[in-house]
Amino acid sequence: MDYRDIHLRKLEHILICNYCDVEYRKSTLFNAIELIHRGVPNCNLEDIDTTTELFGRKLDAPLIVTGITGGHPEAKEINRNIAEAVEELNLGMGVGSQRAAIVDSSVADSYEIIRDYNIPLVIGNLGAVNFIEDRWDEDVIERAVEMIEGDAMAIHFNPLQEAIQPEGDTNFKGIKILKDVISRYKRKYRDIPFIAKEVGEGFSREDAVVLEEIGFDGIDVAGSGGTSWAMVEYYRIKDKEFKELSERFLDWGIPTAVSLFYVKDVFSGTVIASGGIRSGVDMAKSIAVGAHCCGVALPVLRAALKGSKEVVKVLERMIKELKTTMFLIGCEDIEALRRAKYIVKGELKEWLDIRVKD
Ligand SMILES: Cc1cc2nc3c(=O)[nH]c(=O)nc-3n(C[C@H](O)[C@H](O)[C@H](O)COP(=O)(O)O)c2cc1C
Repeated sequence: MDYRDIHLRKLEHILICNYCDVEYRKSTLFNAIELIHRGVPNCNLEDIDTTTELFGRKLDAPLIVTGITGGHPEAKEINRNIAEAVEELNLGMGVGSQRAAIVDSSVADSYEIIRDYNIPLVIGNLGAVNFIEDRWDEDVIERAVEMIEGDAMAIHFNPLQEAIQPEGDTNFKGIKILKDVISRYKRKYRDIPFIAKEVGEGFSREDAVVLEEIGFDGIDVAGSGGTSWAMVEYYRIKDKEFKELSERFLDWGIPTAVSLFYVKDVFSGTVIASGGIRSGVDMAKSIAVGAHCCGVALPVLRAALKGSKEVVKVLERMIKELKTTMFLIGCEDIEALRRAKYIVKGELKEWLDIRVKD
């Protein structure tokens, strides 16, 4: 594929996500989790402490902006606005897939811009499938890490998106080669954490077992209920056959709350809850269930197109809602929130009760 096609596709994704309704019709199922209100919370709202550590880095709240963009001129401004906001709020940030700059270094500046900011946790982003299709190795990872002075590397798994794109890379067979690539990287370069990341369809329990075997330090579940890639591609694709194919999968995916339960049950590393996290209440529920941190993309992208102050507003609102929730359930800090009681209702309970046969 001509690399200009990659740049154009990135820009189309941004425009579609900004102007179209690209969120799942179905829910994350966080609405099926209830935290137990305390009429006697025995804590002071003013003193609620949301600080936490993620991969050894101190964040002011358990929140990161997950990978969105890079690889075309408009992306530079978006990444700058996100970087400025997360620096101010002391949160983590990922960049979008760095493949565009791996194949064409002239667009690297749209990622490099974030090096100008003092961000406590910077996460790079490469696609799992390219380690098979393009035989990428540890040296490619190092180029991506250096580009942003990264502290961690997310490897994204996006089988649905690849399958419904006419130009998609669809060979995920033999993905365990990542085990060797990651361990070679850690030996040859540095021991940064590697995060396996979905992009909005979620990981199953079986996936989490495989990802642990490969040696991932973290999993970002990126489940369904937020941005839907079937929807984004449905708007973008012109080819009739692929348009119809994407339409069939508008409802596909594991709701984020379900994927979070699946992953935290079997994975011993760090768990990030993302995919449709839209409020501090969703964040509190995620952490009570077992996530170490939450991630958000779409609302941040839309704000970043307006400016960094808008991004600050979105993230500050979520943190304020998190604090209010923690107060209402009597949890003074994130450690206490991790022990908070909750109940599981309705459809979420069905997903968890009716196990796929082992
Ligand atoms: C415009 C756009 C571009 C994205 N590009 C990437 C990407 O390059 N790599 C990746 O791992 N995830 C990418 N994502 C997925 C997000 O990181 C996130 O997993 C997903 O959107 C679900 O979160 P949300 O519901 O908060 O948007 C992108 C999301 C958006 C909206």
